[in-house]
Amino acid sequence: MDPIYEKVSKCLDSVRKVTDFVPKVAIVLGSGLGDYADDIRQVAEIDYHDIEGFPVSTVPGHSGKFIFGYVGEVPVVCMKGRVHYYEGYAMSDVVLPTRLMHAMGAKILFLTNASGGINAGFSAGTLMMLTDHISTFVPNPLIGPNLEELGPRFPDMSHVYDEDLQDILRTAAKENGIDLKEGVYIQFTGPSFESPAEIRMAKTLGADAVGMSTVVEAIVANHCGMKICGVSCVCNMAAGISPTPLSHDEVQQAANEAAPKFKKLLTESVKKF
Ligand code: HPA
Repeated sequence: MDPIYEKVSKCLDSVRKVTDFVPKVAIVLGSGLGDYADDIRQVAEIDYHDIEGFPVSTVPGHSGKFIFGYVGEVPVVCMKGRVHYYEGYAMSDVVLPTRLMHAMGAKILFLTNASGGINAGFSAGTLMMLTDHISTFVPNPLIGPNLEELGPRFPDMSHVYDEDLQDILRTAAKENGIDLKEGVYIQFTGPSFESPAEIRMAKTLGADAVGMSTVVEAIVANHCGMKICGVSCVCNMAAGISPTPLSHDEVQQAANEAAPKFKKLLTESVKKF
């Protein structure tokens, strides 16, 4: 068996010792959304430390556990804390949690994150639904022997963010008076924030928001046939667009302030999945 696939299987064994819960939707909680799990009807949780071989995050504010429960009647697993490539993990470990949630049974992946705004129509606190993505200088997570059990060697990426899910998010936003922008998210490796010249490059490439996660997770989820949607909380305007230097504290504060509407959007969308 391929060692990457074997590792996912081992992690699944650890999970199954704790719960046989089968989620329909996997939700990755980005900065500021960590306490979303308090809003769900929780039936089980597993600390990442208790899953053999599972990568555990080192970033402050990114504590780690899986929460299992229900949003309305919809069974979900939430990732409270994700790992980032800049922490030094192998790319296969960065995307392992996504593959694990797929192995648990999740058919839909709802990705959330914090980002820097590039689109001049955005400001701190803007919520942006992902319509597409760009990966820059981040290794493709599918490099290496193809995991035939999961998907094809050359997966199509024309429609990574599912059109029907996008419509559901638009409707949920409208019904709840939430202003939901749309755009293209670009992933850089981090951990340094981008330079103004890099942001000008990203803008020229067609990006509306920039961050350090999400694209690689979306690629592996698309590879294994999950339906994907994503929402980014623009927590600051990106370097060169914002006159002030960027800081992680500023990002977390803006994410916390936008959290109530972000959580509402998440809940009302997932209920319709
Ligand atoms: N750049 C990259 N990642 C980010 C930013 C940013 O400006 N803000 C929040 N996450």
